[in-house]
Amino acid sequence: MEIRKIIEQAIGKAIKTLDVSSLGKVGVEHPADELMGDYSSNVALKTGVKAKVIKEKLEKDKDLMKVVEKVEIAGPGFINFWLKKEWLVAEMLKVVKQNKDYGKGSWGKDKRMVIDYSAPNIAKQFSVGHLRSTIIGQAIYNLHKFSGWKCVGDNHLGDWGTQFGMIVAAVEKWDLDLSKMSVNEIEEIYVKYNKLVKEDEKYLKKAQEAFARLEKGEPKAKKVWQTAIKMSLKDFDKVYDLLGVKIDEAYGESFYQDEMEKVIKEMKKKKVAVKGEGGALIVELDGLPPAMLVKSDGSSTYFTRDMATVKWRRENPNMASDLYIYEVGAEQSLHFKQVFAAAEKTGWGKKEDFVHVAHGLVLGTDGKKMSTRKGTTESMEELLKKMINKAAEINETSARQVGVGATIFNDLKHSPQTSYKFDWEKALSMEGDSGPYVQYSAVRALSVLKKSMPRTGGKDLKLDMASLSEGELEVLRKLYRFGEVVERATRELSPNLLCEYLLDLSRSFNGFYGNNQVIGGENEDFRLGLTAAVAQILKTGLGLLNIEVPEKM
Ligand code: ARG
Repeated sequence: MEIRKIIEQAIGKAIKTLDVSSLGKVGVEHPADELMGDYSSNVALKTGVKAKVIKEKLEKDKDLMKVVEKVEIAGPGFINFWLKKEWLVAEMLKVVKQNKDYGKGSWGKDKRMVIDYSAPNIAKQFSVGHLRSTIIGQAIYNLHKFSGWKCVGDNHLGDWGTQFGMIVAAVEKWDLDLSKMSVNEIEEIYVKYNKLVKEDEKYLKKAQEAFARLEKGEPKAKKVWQTAIKMSLKDFDKVYDLLGVKIDEAYGESFYQDEMEKVIKEMKKKKVAVKGEGGALIVELDGLPPAMLVKSDGSSTYFTRDMATVKWRRENPNMASDLYIYEVGAEQSLHFKQVFAAAEKTGWGKKEDFVHVAHGLVLGTDGKKMSTRKGTTESMEELLKKMINKAAEINETSARQVGVGATIFNDLKHSPQTSYKFDWEKALSMEGDSGPYVQYSAVRALSVLKKSMPRTGGKDLKLDMASLSEGELEVLRKLYRFGEVVERATRELSPNLLCEYLLDLSRSFNGFYGNNQVIGGENEDFRLGLTAAVAQILKTGLGLLNIEVPEKM
C-alpha cells in the first residue's frame, strides 16, 4: 500500500475508536519544514481531540509503526510522522528494481481521455501560443498515460474558414504557386489580400465566392487549399521534430465540414439553437453571451466546428472518453465556456467532462506579448534553433537536447495559467531553476553509474542505518514522493508541480554528491543505489515532460 494511505488509514482508525462526531476534512501533507518530519496531519485540530490522545492511539497501531519511526505532537492540533530509515532505503531499492516503471499509477486504469492541443493555423505562422499549447499538452498527455489512462492526442488544426477563400482569391489574382512558398510567405499574401478587401468590396466578394467554390469541392480551389496545408505542415513538422512531439491524430477543423449539417439539425430539433438577428442561429446560455452557430449569411463558425467536434468525438469509438481536455490560450476562455455549456444543453455530456487548460502569455523581456507578427522574435523554429545554438556554445553533441529541454522546462515550470517573460539566459542557466540543471544532475548520476559498472548497488544491501548522513537522508526522503507528485501534477493538470519536484531532488542530490564519495567511499553499495534511484527518477520525470537526458553535457 502507498505510504500516504497507510498513514491516512491509521488516522482514520484512531478517530473511529475515539467516537468524535463533527469532523472537518482531515489533511495529511508533507510539512514545508523538513525538521517537522515526513508527513503531518491536522487531525487533532479538526477533531478537537487532544493531540496526545491521538498520538497514543497511533503508537499502538502495529501496521503504522512498521513504517513509522516516531509520531510527534507539533504545535496545537498537529501530529507529525517520521518514516523509518529502513522503509526509506527499501523504497530506494524499489526504485532501482522497478526502473522506468517506478511511480507509475493505476488510478487511470479504464479511463480514457482526449487532449486537443497544439492546433496551429494553416497558412499562418506557428505562434508562441501554439508552442505553449504543444509543450503543455504533451506533458499532460504523457502524465495521464503514465497513470494508466488511455489517451488520444488530437491536433485540431485551423484549416477551415472564410480566410481560405482569401488565399484562393489571392493565388488567382497574382497567379501564385504556393508549393514554392514558405508559411511566412503564404501568410504575407494573405495579409496583402486582406488589405485589398478593406479597400474595395469587390475583393471581399471574390474571396467569398472562392470560399463557396472551396466548400463545394471545386478542384482548382481545393488544390490551392491542399497545397497551403501541405506547405504549412511541412513547416510545422520542423518544430514538432525539434520538440520530439508526435501527435496521434490531426483531424483539423475541415474534417467536420460534413458533420456540421447534422449538428445544426440536432441542435435545432432540441431547441438549443434558436433564431437570432437577421436569420442567424444562436445558442442562448445561462450566464454567458449567446454563441453564434450559423451566421446570418448562412456560414458556419469556429463555434459550429467545435460543436461538431464534441459530437463526433463522443460518438467515435476510438475517441469517446471520460475527459476531454483542450489546451488552448486563455483568450479563448469564453469560447470554451460556451462550447461546454452548449454541449451540456444539447445532451452531449456534462460540463465537468470538459476542461479548458487556458495558458497564459509568453512575454518578451520588455514585458510585452511575444509575437512573431510584431517581429519580437523570428519563427518558433528559429527560436528553438537559437536555443540550440546557445546550448552548442557549451557542448556541441548535446546541443539539441539541452536547447530544447531548456525551452520546454522553462515553460512548464510556470503553471499553465500564468504568463511569463521569456529569458533565454535563465532558461539555459546550469545553476538556476532550469531544465539544463536537472538534465545535468541526471547526466552526473548516470556517469557515476557507468564508471561503477557492473556494481549497480543494492541487492543484498547491508547497511547500518545509524551511519546514514544528513545529506543521504535528505535524498532518501524525497525519492518516495515521486509517485505522489506525478499523481497530483496529473490530477491538477499542473506539470509545474513535477518541475518543482525535479529541481528539488536535483538540489538534494547535488548536495549529497558534493559531500560524499560514491565510488570507493563508505557504504559504496548504498550510495550507488541512491545514485541509481535519483538517476532513474530524474530520467522518468524529465521524460514525462518530454525532455531527453543527453549522454554527456
Ligand atoms: N487553431 C486554434 C487557434 O489557433 C486553436 C484550436 C483549439 N482547439 C479547438 N478545438 N478549438 O486559435
